Amino acid sequence: MTTRILTGITTTGTPHLGNYAGAIRPAIVASRDSDADSFYFLADYHALIKCDDPLRIQRSRLEIAATWLACGLDIERVTFYRQSDIPEIPELTWLLTCVAGKGLLNRAHAYKASVDKNLAEGEDADAGVTMGLFSYPVLMAADILMFNANKVPVGRDQIQHVEMARDIGQRFNHLFGAGREYFVAPEALIEESVATLPGLDGRKMSKSYDNTIPLFGSAKQLRDAVNRIVTDSRAPGEPKDADSAHLFTLFQAFASAEQAAAFRADLAGGLAWGEAKQRLFELLDGELAQAREHYNALMQKPGEIEDMLQAGALKARRIATPFLGELREAVGLRSFREQVQVAGAGKKKAVKAARFVSFREQDGSFRFRFLSAEGEELLLSRPFADPKAVGVVTARLLAQGADALELRADEGAQFTLWLDGECVADSPAHATPEALEAAMLRLRAAVAALAE
Ligand code: TRP
Repeated sequence: MTTRILTGITTTGTPHLGNYAGAIRPAIVASRDSDADSFYFLADYHALIKCDDPLRIQRSRLEIAATWLACGLDIERVTFYRQSDIPEIPELTWLLTCVAGKGLLNRAHAYKASVDKNLAEGEDADAGVTMGLFSYPVLMAADILMFNANKVPVGRDQIQHVEMARDIGQRFNHLFGAGREYFVAPEALIEESVATLPGLDGRKMSKSYDNTIPLFGSAKQLRDAVNRIVTDSRAPGEPKDADSAHLFTLFQAFASAEQAAAFRADLAGGLAWGEAKQRLFELLDGELAQAREHYNALMQKPGEIEDMLQAGALKARRIATPFLGELREAVGLRSFREQVQVAGAGKKKAVKAARFVSFREQDGSFRFRFLSAEGEELLLSRPFADPKAVGVVTARLLAQGADALELRADEGAQFTLWLDGECVADSPAHATPEALEAAMLRLRAAVAALAE
């Protein structure tokens, strides 16, 4: 069985080495697993929550797309798209917004942090808080539930959001599923083995600490950044402890076990920091040079990236469009061509089933229509004097089963249904013998489905 893996990348910045080691590289490796059905997308609607600079949004989307492609993401294998190219996602967001508890969202860490900060500063609790920030977890739930992801690789700060997606999905199932699980329960996937890289100053590499190493800057920019890595003040020749040097941690994240062991030994043997930085630079440059070239070439051809993402959106929407159609049906946003089920009439039951609809004629007789799940009239009965006869006939039709239905096609465009040598119903007129034949098959299929 394949596992559907899905994750989003918020498009607000330029990817750095920490993003590469912590998210991009492991995701691309995971996508090559033959059991994986991977969905990776640019969470550009999420980016709008944090950023109101259109140029930055635009540039970041392009850079992140180019980065993933340059790092070897195979778009034949995976589904790679922009969130904002899938109109079903905001539509699903609304359906989920209507079942998500406000109390649940009040507890979201990101929102709570803003409130706490406001209160600490003596401001109104919701000062500067947009509905986008407040509803952030609902949009993320829609991302995940739209494609029924099983596993969602995320950082620790996002675990709560995945749990909320699960809650909201289960609530929808409970309210509208009538026994059907529209949404599977997603799980956060935290890769323990994945490297969290230290930045230049030794704290976690992060844009907010301004301590990052660029991923696809020029070789010179890479060298300059490596030279700014903070080390202790041991002089050349003095033994150095690899385990207390974040320069070594960085090296290790990209080196083979043998390379790391040799580096460790050389540091202990007094390798100068300057030398050590040169080695780290060479290692990183070796890993990145080819992808950097690919990246630069892609950035010269944004139209090609656009085409790839459009193809990804088509692929994603082949799943999203029909699924959203089912969800709309489930909540009652249905076509008027189908018979309207009256609220409170019986339990909420399977929506899509063929049905008998009985009615009374002006002359006082009783008839039934047999409608397909889509609302097509398959049969109109002959009139009965006794209303009970309608129930008896329909029950017998179901009991005897689809194959035993006695249908007679006349040479015209109609067929008739017979029971005990008596004609009980007529089909509508059909234009051709083929259409007549097809209508008979639909009738049998509908009876079979109902009789189950
Ligand atoms: N909120 C995530 C982050 O900031 C990005 C994201 C958006 C996401 N939608 C998602 C991650 C769906 C996983 C699944 O990292």
